[in-house]
Amino acid sequence: MKTLTITRPDDWHIHVRSGAVLKTVLAHTARQFARAIIMPNLKPPVTTVAQALTYRDEILRAVPVGVDFTPLMTLYLTGATTAAEIKAAAESDAVYAFKLYPAGATTNSDAGVADITAIYPALAAMEKHNLPLLIHGEVTDEQCDIFDRERVFVDTHLRAIVEHFPNLRTVLEHVTTTEAVQFVQTAGDTIAATITPQHLLFNRNAVLAGGIRPHYYCLPIIKRERHRLALLAAATSGNPKFFLGTDSAPHLTSLKETACGCAGCYSAHAALELYAEAFERADALDKLEGFASFYGADFYRLPRNTGTVTLEKNSWTVPAFYGENGLSITPLKAGEALSWKLQHYQS
Ligand code: NCD
Ligand code: ZN
Repeated sequence: MKTLTITRPDDWHIHVRSGAVLKTVLAHTARQFARAIIMPNLKPPVTTVAQALTYRDEILRAVPVGVDFTPLMTLYLTGATTAAEIKAAAESDAVYAFKLYPAGATTNSDAGVADITAIYPALAAMEKHNLPLLIHGEVTDEQCDIFDRERVFVDTHLRAIVEHFPNLRTVLEHVTTTEAVQFVQTAGDTIAATITPQHLLFNRNAVLAGGIRPHYYCLPIIKRERHRLALLAAATSGNPKFFLGTDSAPHLTSLKETACGCAGCYSAHAALELYAEAFERADALDKLEGFASFYGADFYRLPRNTGTVTLEKNSWTVPAFYGENGLSITPLKAGEALSWKLQHYQS
C-alpha cells in the first residue's frame, strides 16, 4: 500500500471550544498534530494571560492519555487590551500570539476591534515584545460584498498595518483570494499566511450550487475557482510564507442546519488527509511536509518537531457526525470517501 511519512505537523490555527465540544474534538487534533495555535474566541473571549492558563489546563485535561500534544495559546485583542497584558503575555510560557478580529466579522467576534487604528499602541507593544499578530482579514462594512471583504481588508487595513509596523510578525489567517496571496508573496519576511483544507479543495459551488450546503459555509467564505487555484499554487510552491492552519471550527449540527446557519467547517477529524488529497491532486505531495511541518514552526521561531506521522492510501468513509449523548458535529465530507488515512504517529 502506498504510504507517506512526514515529520509530525502542527496546526497554526484551530478552534477547539470548551466543555463537551472540546472533549469531542480534541483527540482528533492531538493525534495528528504535535502543537496547535488555539483561537481565543470563546464566549467570553480569552483576553488575559490568566484566562489563557485556565483554558490551557482545560485543553490539557482533554488530551487522551499517552498522546503528546501542546496547545499554544493566543489572546483576543480588544480595544481595551493594555500594554501590561501584552508584556505579561510575552513573558509567559503559554501565550504565543494575539488575534485580531474586526468586530462582528465572524463567529464570536462581537468583542473584537471596531477601529483598527485605535489599537495601534497595542500593535506597537506587540512589535516591541516580539509577539506575532494573527489577523482575521475581512472588513465588516455591510455595504461590502461578502466575496470582496478580504480583498478590501488587505488593501485598506493590512497594507497600513504592515507599513506602520515593519518588524511585527503578522499572519493573515485563512487566506482565500488571489489578492491576499499576492500581498503576502510581495510583502517582507515578517508577513505570512495560513491556508485551510476547504479553501484548497473547494470553490464556492460547493457552498451554493445545487442547494445551500451549510457545512461548507465558513468565513472568509469559499471563493471562485481562480482563487482556489491561486491558493493551491501558493501552498504547493514551497514558499515558507504559506503554512498549514485548518481553521477547524466545530459547531453543533443544529446550529449549522437552520434558517441562519453559523460559520465554520469542522475538519480536525481528517485534517492531514484532506490536505494530502489537495496536494496529491496538484501532483505536489513532496511539498506537503514543508507546508505542514516546517514553515509554521520556523515563522513562530519554535523548534521543528522530531516525530513522524504516516498516512496510507486507503479509502475510508467519514462518519455522518461526531459526538455522543445527543451532541452532534457534522464533519467536512460527512458520509463521503477520503483516499488517505492517518496510520500512526511517533512522537
Ligand atoms: C470560526 C469559528 O467558528 O469560530 N468560523 C469560521 O467560519 N472560520 C471563526 C473564524 O475563524 O472566522
Ligand atoms: Zn478561525
